[in-house]
Amino acid sequence: MSTSRYVAVFVGSLRKEAFSRKIANALIAEAPATLKLAIHEIGQLPLYNADYEADPPAVVIEFKQRLAAADAVLFVTPEYNRGVPGVLKNAIDVGSRPYGKSAWEGKPGAVVSVSPGAIGGFGANHALRQSLVFLNVPAMQQPEAYIGGASKLFDEQGALKDESTREFLQKFLQAFEAWIERNAPR
Ligand SMILES: Cc1cc2nc3c(=O)[nH]c(=O)nc-3n(C[C@H](O)[C@H](O)[C@H](O)COP(=O)(O)O)c2cc1C
Repeated sequence: MSTSRYVAVFVGSLRKEAFSRKIANALIAEAPATLKLAIHEIGQLPLYNADYEADPPAVVIEFKQRLAAADAVLFVTPEYNRGVPGVLKNAIDVGSRPYGKSAWEGKPGAVVSVSPGAIGGFGANHALRQSLVFLNVPAMQQPEAYIGGASKLFDEQGALKDESTREFLQKFLQAFEAWIERNAPR
């Protein structure tokens, strides 16, 4: 039996220089050896359409299979108009259907919102949590992660340079590891 847990990471921005992707990469770099984090790309997914449920495209089948194999899920997202970016909401919807065959079911989760603004994407963070309730994804409550001032946190290569953010991400990951153990017993 593997001693590490596999965490599927979803980034709610498609742009190359996304602050949310840089934070996701920092989380991957700071993860303890007992957590294996990997980004699952979502930009290739078609817009959800019930008409293809009976015969889904290969990208949808692969997305759901990889998600189903994960022990836990981690969302790192910006805020769009005080809500969840459409690309991330679409991935959530695609993974959740057909009804009764959701690939999200029961997986422990956590949410990190990221913004250059001062309130750190609070609105997106909590809008996302609303969907996680219905998806039966137990979402870690504490520590909450609203990462503001994101434009000042990275060096020219896109690596995290802010030490207090690094310490926070390490504490967040420790708490998430415990959350996974509590909510997904081996
Ligand atoms: C359509 C759109 C809506 C936005 N709405 C918000 C918002 O509600 N709150 C916020 O803090 N920033 C908002 N922003 C600014 C984003 O936080 C900023 O563009 C950020 O860099 C996007 O995340 P990324 O760097 O991960 O791509 C918005 C940006 C776009 C393109």
